[in-house]
Amino acid sequence: MKKQNIKTGPAHVAIIMDGNGRWARQRGKPRLFGHHAGARRVREIVRSCPDLGVKYLTIFAFSTENWRRTQTEVAGLMSLFRRYITREAQALFRENVRVRFIGDRIKLDDKLVALMDELELLTAGNDGTHLTIALNYGGRDEVARATKRLAREVKAGRVDPETVDGETLAHYLDTYFLPDPDLVIRTSGEARISNFLLWQSAYAEYEFIDTLWPDFSEEIFARIVTGFGRRERRYGAVLA
Ligand code: IPE
Ligand code: IPE
Ligand code: MG
Repeated sequence: MKKQNIKTGPAHVAIIMDGNGRWARQRGKPRLFGHHAGARRVREIVRSCPDLGVKYLTIFAFSTENWRRTQTEVAGLMSLFRRYITREAQALFRENVRVRFIGDRIKLDDKLVALMDELELLTAGNDGTHLTIALNYGGRDEVARATKRLAREVKAGRVDPETVDGETLAHYLDTYFLPDPDLVIRTSGEARISNFLLWQSAYAEYEFIDTLWPDFSEEIFARIVTGFGRRERRYGAVLA
């Protein structure tokens, strides 16, 4: 395993943006009202990354399990994603953000997938913050899809099964272009990972906070990222 400087800030932060529904309920509003409020928080967090030394930001927008919600909520979220991409594309481009999506696109509608492709292409030359949006993403689903692709390569005689190791599999994951997350933040008080970056988070530090996602702010983000520098990451070794 790669040895890292143990006292530096997190280069890759991943966020499980949870609590939109409860935030809306507290205000007597429909759940989608919370999702809209949540989407508005993203811009501020992305913008604060360069100053905090966060090079990679990965956000969980929709899980492979979120299809279990009502048709109204799912349709509202899909329309929110389309609007968000359309509205934010130029600003993200100007701010030198490189956007990529992870997750299975098969179940997403063509119009949304076209917007995702366009945004990836538009920002492909940017080298500031690397923003990765997990949409119809599930860690188990990702590993299963990666395994399927790898199995096809083996079957075609292009990969020798005896050479397969962790690095080989990582190469087939949706996140092949990303370093592993150093820090995973989950808002809303739930202390679980809900199928997010299962493989990649093997040595991530976790931060579970009570704040509901629409109340998350640049200040809270900065406090967590700054506090990260005090942690000692051992990667299984005994440090002197
Ligand atoms: C997170 O907020 C956003 C998505 C999962 C799309 P929730 O919608 O899960 O909000 P709570 O957990 O019900 O409050
Ligand atoms: C995880 O939140 C998914 C996203 C934030 C997109 P959920 O609200 O769907 O997770 P559970 O159901 O509480 O585990
Ligand atoms: Mg939730």
